[in-house]
Amino acid sequence: MTASHTVLDVHLTDADAEAALRWDAWVGLTARPKQLPPKWFYDARGSELFEQITELPEYYPTRTERALLHEHAPEIAAVAAAAGVDTLVELGSGSSEKTRLLLDALSAAGTCRRYVPQDVSESALRGAVDALLDDYPDLAVHGVVGDFTRHLGLLPAEGRRLVAFLGGTIGNLQPAERAAFLVVARAAMRPGEYLLLGAGLVTDPAVLVAAYDDAAGVTAEFNRNVLAVLNRQLGAEFDLDDFDHVAHWDADNEWIEMRLRARRLMTVRVRELELEVPFAAGEEMRTEISAKFRPEGLRAEVTAAGFEPVRFWTDPDDRFALSLWKAA
Ligand code: SAH
Ligand code: AVI
Repeated sequence: MTASHTVLDVHLTDADAEAALRWDAWVGLTARPKQLPPKWFYDARGSELFEQITELPEYYPTRTERALLHEHAPEIAAVAAAAGVDTLVELGSGSSEKTRLLLDALSAAGTCRRYVPQDVSESALRGAVDALLDDYPDLAVHGVVGDFTRHLGLLPAEGRRLVAFLGGTIGNLQPAERAAFLVVARAAMRPGEYLLLGAGLVTDPAVLVAAYDDAAGVTAEFNRNVLAVLNRQLGAEFDLDDFDHVAHWDADNEWIEMRLRARRLMTVRVRELELEVPFAAGEEMRTEISAKFRPEGLRAEVTAAGFEPVRFWTDPDDRFALSLWKAA
């Protein structure tokens, strides 16, 4: 592969990311209850831990979505080819592992010129791009370091695009953020371009809680990693051993909520924010929601943002949905 096939745009510089982290940490650590947005999990270590999560026996979303992609990628590629799609854009692309199923199907359909992965984690993005270059020598890869809640308007407009948002990451957005995300994504697309969405479905709470509280403790380490990010980036003085991992199924909101529970009364200094953060013993700080959907609810939300339904597939246990939408 020659370097001319690769471009890396940075829409989120280190300075931007640090300013955004300062803001989120200040707002979240002074709120009641305390909360932090999940995007800050994904430094290099957090991205590695997420990849380990995808291999856990309890964490069914990745393998379930992979099976759906395996089965339906040829049909997705056929729809894309008929519409003249030649560019696959992927938001929150991570390792781009499952994406290979799409790239292979699009290539087989003769309609794969360009891949545009966008991720807030530069380390994950660079790792994915390097691995793809070896295996897809004819593919132009245009990586973008960016935040899908802020930078969709800056995405490369080259080609006719299929925009993939996989893994169930849409469920990590708050409901209002999710509605805004869909409207902004639609506005960033041209009529006749496609959206491919992976979303977790409401299922047995015991299965859900196990998926977010695995026996090996990998998800607990992933959860605590956000404290390590605050320590490194903002000079915070969190002792990770002072916090327990909590995975709670919120049946009213139909989402898994990950929290960090303080094991004791303490005050934590965050040097760069000149902030002293008090924690009561047992106090819980929310670090992620992972919303699970009902098919009719998902349809209503996506169509309200200006997309037409094209295909909707679920696995045999109805735990995950892969759906294809056309920008109207
Ligand atoms: N799509 C992959 C990875 C999912 S993990 C899969 O299905 O396995 C979620 C990914 O989204 C991570 O790589 C993380 O770095 C990225 N991410 C999280 N919040 C983001 C944001 N606001 N903007 C862009 N990427 C984000
Ligand atoms: C990336 N996202 C869809 C994962 C999820 O399932 O909500 C993140 C995750 N959190 C804990 N385990 C995995």
